[in-house]
Amino acid sequence: MARYELVKRSVALITLTNPPVNALSAAVRLGITETIRRALGDPKVTAVVLCGENGKFCGGADIREFAGTLRGPSIITLMDGIEAGVKPVVAAIEGVALGGGLELALACHYRIAHSKARLGLPEVTLGLMPAAGGTQRLPRLIGIPAALELITTGRHISAQEALKLGIVDQVTDENACKMAVEFALNVVGKPLSSRRLSTLTMPCPPNLDAIFEAVTMQVQKKARGVMAPLACIQGVRAAATLPYSQGMKRESELFATLFNSGQARALQYCFFAQRTAGKWTLPSGAQWNNSKPREIRSAAVIGLGTMGRGIVVSLARVGISVIAVESEKKLLDTGRQMVIGMLERDAKRRGVTASLNLLRFTLSLQDLKDVDIVIEAVFEDMALKKRVFEDLSKVCRPGTFLYTNTSGLDVDALAGVTDRPHMVAGMHFFSPAHVMKLLEVVYGSRSSSETIATAMSLGKRIGKVSVAVGNCHGFVGNRMLKPYTDQANFLLEEGATPEQIDKVLEEFGFAMGIFRVSDLAGLDVGWRIRKESGLTGPKIDPKDPPRRRQGSRYSPIPDMLCEQGRLGQKTGCGWYVYDKPGGTDAKPDPLIQNLLQTYRSRYGIQPRNISGQEIIERCLFSLANEGFRILEDGIAAQPEDIDIIYLFGYGFPRHRGGPMFYASMVGLERVLERLEHYHHVHPDVPHLEPSRLLRKLVACGSPPIQKWREHIKQIHSHL
Ligand code: COA
Ligand code: ADP
Repeated sequence: MARYELVKRSVALITLTNPPVNALSAAVRLGITETIRRALGDPKVTAVVLCGENGKFCGGADIREFAGTLRGPSIITLMDGIEAGVKPVVAAIEGVALGGGLELALACHYRIAHSKARLGLPEVTLGLMPAAGGTQRLPRLIGIPAALELITTGRHISAQEALKLGIVDQVTDENACKMAVEFALNVVGKPLSSRRLSTLTMPCPPNLDAIFEAVTMQVQKKARGVMAPLACIQGVRAAATLPYSQGMKRESELFATLFNSGQARALQYCFFAQRTAGKWTLPSGAQWNNSKPREIRSAAVIGLGTMGRGIVVSLARVGISVIAVESEKKLLDTGRQMVIGMLERDAKRRGVTASLNLLRFTLSLQDLKDVDIVIEAVFEDMALKKRVFEDLSKVCRPGTFLYTNTSGLDVDALAGVTDRPHMVAGMHFFSPAHVMKLLEVVYGSRSSSETIATAMSLGKRIGKVSVAVGNCHGFVGNRMLKPYTDQANFLLEEGATPEQIDKVLEEFGFAMGIFRVSDLAGLDVGWRIRKESGLTGPKIDPKDPPRRRQGSRYSPIPDMLCEQGRLGQKTGCGWYVYDKPGGTDAKPDPLIQNLLQTYRSRYGIQPRNISGQEIIERCLFSLANEGFRILEDGIAAQPEDIDIIYLFGYGFPRHRGGPMFYASMVGLERVLERLEHYHHVHPDVPHLEPSRLLRKLVACGSPPIQKWREHIKQIHSHL
């Protein structure tokens, strides 16, 4: 786990060997301890270089070990030994030095980084804090403000930035290991005392309290209710106010509190869930991973609305040439202008040249003859989409994949009008498509594995977190949204206010409550869908009693708002009122209170006080309940996929792990019991009826989330 070689006759080269990222497992810690001891004890050795195999210095602590009890040599003793040693130790950083990897480098006397290396202390993103001296050594090296910023955000920085901050001594384009050996030979015999970071006097600015206060406010605003950043601040404060040994003691106490917290478990679950989802297994267990994606060089995007424009930008900025199609000259010109503006701003922000030469704009589908893929992003209208797909069938060469950007329409129905149903699938982007990280890749019943592999790989290439999902109304994300939104609306009817519900959800950790999000997105989006489904408007079945549609409870309150022109921020009012159309500062609106009161008295509803607990349980348990149904139906392959969709597409707080993980943390038995209770009280709400899978899991003793898959009925897949 750590290789030892003697190079240039007097330099001990120690290489960490634990693929893929040389994480500091117990075996690696033991390997370093033994090889360092050997190097320090060998009179031939005058200096030591520490590097990592396969061009990666070290990805930090082995996160998989956190699930058990930590064994093996203490990393802190090991680092203290390196730092106190009388021979210079140089860290040769290639690839990554993250978390414990950077802390290890900080315990060395010198650090040389390759120009492409990334450094950081990302523990906070896993619900933890640096616990091998990171909070004590880094501030002594680069000062309190810079250390606070890096430790509380967990941001990765480039080698160049690390050099500027003083974290590394040299940056090289050559092999960092080779350079470090040369460097080590040159520093042999030089005094090491000023290189031992733990012994340095802390550079303390005079306005210390103000600095800590400002950072505390900043993290509380950014990550409401999240513990780790606050613990990080306390760790750095200890560095500023206590001697090193006491600071270390404080660091380890704070770490222990975080280590056992539900938040840390949730955030570590998210880390692995993201990687699991990327491997996109399917409910059938089909061998999709073996199918090779086709390489994409050219694409066409049809429709330059908000979605189409974002998709064009996402593709062009990774070097894919794009033909953008609109239906009218004026719309084409506006679209062109907007796309160019977006690409220019994006390039400026990233410090590169805008890739405008990759773009072509046209009104004619005939120009799409030779593209590798088409992504259709016209209006969400099945008849129109069908026409477009029929035309594409005629125009595009047989090898062109056809994808539809739809938020919920039937992918099979579209595939059915083409000459190549196996090459059709959904790519559900989220708005704005060049910013939002989530991509649902929707496989239809006839989509080939190559079609899905190509979409998944394209998603990865354009920086999306892609999840493969089955074809049903709303797919995973929007299908689950319905029971959640329904509950919020029913709670309004029963006595809650939009601001009360939003406050509870925001305290839970959502960046914005459901009504504020609805105002931002526009209430008309859902209204149009409801009208098309015959839930509101002229098609309503006259036999439905009030507040019932198609046999279930239905709240017409959102429709009433739309009828009054309250479409959200864009009209200056929706669930809240804004100072002007397009304003963002939401204020509670007395007119909404009046509307709710009138509504309640019309239907004889006695408003009651609704607790925060009821709001959370009804909104979030019904969300998870639909997630269980989605697993049962084989629309998502595993709970991790659902959680990733909610984390990256719907703002679910990461420190809660996602709706399914949250349900597992609350306890499935409790979720079942509460759903049974609410369904009993509201028998006309089918979504509150506990799903079969939830019952089954509880009957099996509520296994941990990683084991749910074994209980999910294996559905047969055509693949
Ligand atoms: N401990 C255990 N496993 C780790 C790990 C760690 N610190 N870092 C990465 N891995 C695993 C991943 O789970 C993945 O495993 P898999 O192939 O079985 O899915 C594999 O290493 C490759 O990681 P991946 O993230 O897919 O590779 P990448 O090249 O895109 O990114 C890193 C590499 C190091 C930047 C990224 O993995 C990372 O950020 N790791 C965590 C670093 C960290 O937070 N360290 C502090 C720990 S307290
Ligand atoms: P969003 O992208 O937000 O869903 P729109 O529904 O406004 O936004 O965007 C759809 C775009 O698709 C519109 O600009 C419309 O002009 C365009 N469009 C509609 N039909 C066609 C078509 N047949 N060919 C090309 N573009 C089309």
